[in-house]
Amino acid sequence: MYLLKVLVLILSTIEICVGLKTENLIQRTLTNSPLVAPHLIEASRQLNQIKDDPDSACMLCQQVISGIISLRRSNSTKDVMMDYLNQLCVLYTDWGEDGCKGRTDIETDTILFIIDNKKDLQPARFCSIYFQSYNCEDPNADNWSIPLPDYAANVASKYVYQNDTDSVQILQITDVHLDPLYSPGSNAKCSEPLCCDSGVPANPEDAAGYWGDYKVCDMPWHTMENMMERIREKHKHIDWIYFTGDIVSHRSWATSVQSNTESIKLMFTLLEKTFPNKTVFPILGNHEAHPADFYSPDTVDKTSNVSTQWLLDLAADEWSRWLPNATQSTIRKGGYYTVLVKPGFRIVALNSNVCFISNLWLIYENLDTFGQLQWLVNVLSQAEKNGEKVHILSHVPSSDDINSCVKIWSKEFRKIVLRFSDTIVAQFNGHTHMDEFKLYFNASDMTEVKNVAYNGASFATFVGSNPDYRIYEVDNNNMSVTDYSQYTFNLTQANSNAKSYPEWYKLYSFKETYGLPDLTHKSLEKLYWQMTMNNSDNALVDTYFKLMYRNSDVYNKAGCDRKCKKKLVCLIAAVETTESVYC
Ligand SMILES: *[C@@H]1O[C@H](CO)[C@@H](O)[C@H](O)[C@H]1NC(C)=O
Ligand SMILES: *[C@@H]1O[C@H](CO)[C@@H](O)[C@H](O)[C@H]1NC(C)=O
Ligand SMILES: *[C@@H]1O[C@H](CO)[C@@H](O)[C@H](O)[C@H]1NC(C)=O
Ligand SMILES: *[C@@H]1O[C@H](CO)[C@@H](O)[C@H](O)[C@H]1NC(C)=O
Ligand SMILES: *[C@@H]1O[C@H](CO)[C@@H](O)[C@H](O)[C@H]1NC(C)=O
Ligand SMILES: *[C@@H]1O[C@H](CO)[C@@H](O)[C@H](O)[C@H]1NC(C)=O
Ligand SMILES: *[C@@H]1O[C@H](CO)[C@@H](O)[C@H](O)[C@H]1NC(C)=O
Ligand SMILES: *[C@@H]1O[C@H](CO)[C@@H](O)[C@H](O)[C@H]1NC(C)=O
Ligand SMILES: *[C@@H]1O[C@H](CO)[C@@H](O)[C@H](O)[C@H]1NC(C)=O
Ligand SMILES: *[C@@H]1O[C@H](CO)[C@@H](O)[C@H](O)[C@H]1NC(C)=O
Ligand SMILES: [Zn+2]
Ligand SMILES: [Zn+2]
Repeated sequence: MYLLKVLVLILSTIEICVGLKTENLIQRTLTNSPLVAPHLIEASRQLNQIKDDPDSACMLCQQVISGIISLRRSNSTKDVMMDYLNQLCVLYTDWGEDGCKGRTDIETDTILFIIDNKKDLQPARFCSIYFQSYNCEDPNADNWSIPLPDYAANVASKYVYQNDTDSVQILQITDVHLDPLYSPGSNAKCSEPLCCDSGVPANPEDAAGYWGDYKVCDMPWHTMENMMERIREKHKHIDWIYFTGDIVSHRSWATSVQSNTESIKLMFTLLEKTFPNKTVFPILGNHEAHPADFYSPDTVDKTSNVSTQWLLDLAADEWSRWLPNATQSTIRKGGYYTVLVKPGFRIVALNSNVCFISNLWLIYENLDTFGQLQWLVNVLSQAEKNGEKVHILSHVPSSDDINSCVKIWSKEFRKIVLRFSDTIVAQFNGHTHMDEFKLYFNASDMTEVKNVAYNGASFATFVGSNPDYRIYEVDNNNMSVTDYSQYTFNLTQANSNAKSYPEWYKLYSFKETYGLPDLTHKSLEKLYWQMTMNNSDNALVDTYFKLMYRNSDVYNKAGCDRKCKKKLVCLIAAVETTESVYC
């Protein structure tokens, strides 16, 4: 969402040149749209003060947004608005002319719809969401909570449906970010937000690698085909597949319903072809949407040209090859569903992209979008009564290193997880592209781990990582994860000999690497406390960092200092946005 990017860049690049650019903008604005100019003058005055001062950041945000809203409120046409938004983008982002024009073309209708239809829209609304890390306040914030039912009678161990000792093997593939325009040898160091599609590199070392690239690039199709072939050959005993979102590339200034649809269909067709007899349980990523990240709530007319209903309908159609008919209605409503996989075991697949702060629709309506969390509580209550165990699939984790999930959703979600922690045996996330896990402690006293969320990292190298896929071993009786193995290849090595296939290998087993007897909550809790020992001079945290980016040369070289390590450990136990902001 480029408004966010504009503001973040304003905040992060407090340099003289930015000041000069601001002067230019003010000059131009004074001539073009006198109404907005005062806001920008105020904004530029504050540029020098905002560094680490949350109040200034919030005020600056309000000035800029106020400018946009009042320009529209003064009956400016779409053309005038586009021109203005485009100017802001060009001046304050590193996206270049094409990137800015593309984003403006794609996003303006939604921005104007929200300003026009939310008559009481105040700048604080926007800033409290986009700048939630700065704790910007909105006196008119939507406030809501999902009531939680009392505990049902203890029926947790009702089902013992297998007597064999075989474990279930679950493949997770996530964040594949396929770029149909990826072109080996093209310029990987370009001036746009995503490279590797065109141009001649100035230096040979900036040429896009054949199998992918550590620079700001997404993935070529042939690398995806290679991974699929490798999994099909080497892992004959996969029982089913979790596909946790983000198919479409980061070229967000050039998406369209048609091109996103093509990428999405290609991916699901390839999955079906590669694993003809396996069930894939897919969820949506924020990048599947067009405009990227935008999921319109169901209070927006589905026939309106800003509605993103097309994506939910597409998902319902595409996923019907694996999912039972009964999932259709909730997928069409909000992109979420549940399936009873076998007696006593249920998968709940969420569309947590609605909580992503880059989902502009949160400005319009920051509620329980699609009634999804209320539905989640209903499903979990019933599962609890039935003594079922549940795996939750969710693209955006309930908190992350950049505080992606909007606070109120994050808070309600965590409450739900803690309430149903006996029913939910594990969660499976994507989105961060980091191999990481999260522990939901029982409360702030941190005395007991109640739940765990595993993040499958990413097939995409974006940015600096080696590609990966993962296989979980799950106990057939209680459906707990007993171990997982991460598979990857060394991209430097693969690209050095593009004629050979990449050498995929098992990077590690979680249990073995961290020396755990099992992956029970008790063992994970013990691991967490071990990781907090020795003032961040801790071998386990070094390992955690190395594996986070799949032992990539880029990150190994960059390293992780004390502050970085402290943050990584902090994030393990930060499961709500109000906690992750302090990491
Ligand atoms: C904008 O147009 C509306 C409807 O035509 C009118 O009532 C309002 O006064 C106009 N606002 C300004 C600032 O011109
Ligand atoms: C939201 O409502 C809850 C109770 O429903 C209350 O405790 C909380 O303070 C409210 N938050 C805000 C920001 O008004
Ligand atoms: C598993 O073993 C128990 C005890 O021997 C038996 O009661 C149960 O029916 C068996 N379950 C299955 C699915 O075979
Ligand atoms: C899929 O199942 C069918 C029917 O059970 C079987 O004939 C076929 O060989 C299986 N295909 C694979 C790839 O396992
Ligand atoms: C979408 O609808 C709005 C309002 O009806 C209109 O102003 C806008 O031009 C439309 N956009 C496109 C791309 O058709
Ligand atoms: C699934 O639903 C469609 C229409 O909604 C119906 O035509 C079809 O028969 C249903 N299939 C099953 C197996 O129930
Ligand atoms: C957390 O769990 C511990 C151990 O069971 C217990 O002593 C403590 O009271 C719990 N805290 C809360 C807030 O539930
Ligand atoms: C699940 O079963 C495994 C044995 O396969 C055991 O090690 C683990 O403790 C069990 N987990 C729970 C939560 O009961
Ligand atoms: C990856 O491969 C390159 C080239 O063969 C090698 O220099 C590098 O050490 C390898 N990286 C790791 C982490 O093994
Ligand atoms: C912490 O330091 C002690 C003493 O140097 C060492 O024996 C121990 O292995 C360290 N623990 C971790 C988890 O690194
Ligand atoms: Zn992603
Ligand atoms: Zn994502």
